[in-house]
Amino acid sequence: MVRETKLSVDDLVYPLFAAAGKGIRREVPSMPGVFNLSVENLVKEAREVARLGIPAVLLFGIPAKKDPLGKDAYSDRGIVQTAVRALKDAVPDLVVITDVCFCEYTDHGHCGILKGGEVDNDATLEVLARSAVTHARAGADIVAPSDMMDGRVGAIRKGLDAEGFQKVSILSYAAKYAGGFYGPFRDAAGSAPSFGDRRSYQMDPPNVREALREVALDVAEGADIVMVKPALSYLDVIRRVRDAFDLPVAAYNVSGEYSMVKAGAKLGWIDGDRVMMEILVSIRRAGADLVITYAAKEAAKALGR
Ligand code: PBG
Repeated sequence: MVRETKLSVDDLVYPLFAAAGKGIRREVPSMPGVFNLSVENLVKEAREVARLGIPAVLLFGIPAKKDPLGKDAYSDRGIVQTAVRALKDAVPDLVVITDVCFCEYTDHGHCGILKGGEVDNDATLEVLARSAVTHARAGADIVAPSDMMDGRVGAIRKGLDAEGFQKVSILSYAAKYAGGFYGPFRDAAGSAPSFGDRRSYQMDPPNVREALREVALDVAEGADIVMVKPALSYLDVIRRVRDAFDLPVAAYNVSGEYSMVKAGAKLGWIDGDRVMMEILVSIRRAGADLVITYAAKEAAKALGR
């Protein structure tokens, strides 16, 4: 009765990995309980997610083939576009959020178009907007650019509006840090950069004032929801963003955070279920409205729905 912070199933978003092919249900070795799923299995999983009362999924694509330009990312027949159509057809009330980024689709694993061995910010904007439009055309409710190119929220908003998708919202990864917590995700998506790192386009972990500047830019460009990522080591950033802006704030409890808990629990060193719930509530306490987490299904069960 006197608890100040509540975690509810309504706050949760569950990430899903759509893999090209058939009959695929491949557990990610570093993420127990998380699978690469071909579309028919993805639909089954989405039905379960909806039955648990989780309102939304965040969809990532693992294409059959990667290339230097990441063409599958903006093909109407791409893996994510195909998966979105199947999800909206089978579970229409489940909110579908799509990751808009190139690192899952490029053979070099960077989040954009390369020129002279570096990511070309402005050349990437155009293809990001094209990619978002294909997601919207497939039925995505919300697009979520996760690359951190400067100006991409504005470019995507313009691209969507020009094609008649004014009602598709943008959840921007506004303050995304180039840290070490994404390792297991990169196993899941085969998206580790083949050279260098993401520090030329994503944030330096010690910076928080810069995070507020990044969020302000995305808000000005038309973001509908702003995200801080990762969550656990950045609870102060979540709080600062919450206090400074009135938009909904999302936080991404990323792969490394999930895997650490699973690994600790497997070794018998911590009570994994208890710690997972404690982490999720701490993210809410820091000020996040939405929590994107691989533990969403477990949490929904623990919350008793
Ligand atoms: C794509 C993207 C990544 C994540 C979300 N979108 C990977 C990355 O930036 O390397 C990471 C999510 C996670 O670690 O759970 N850019």
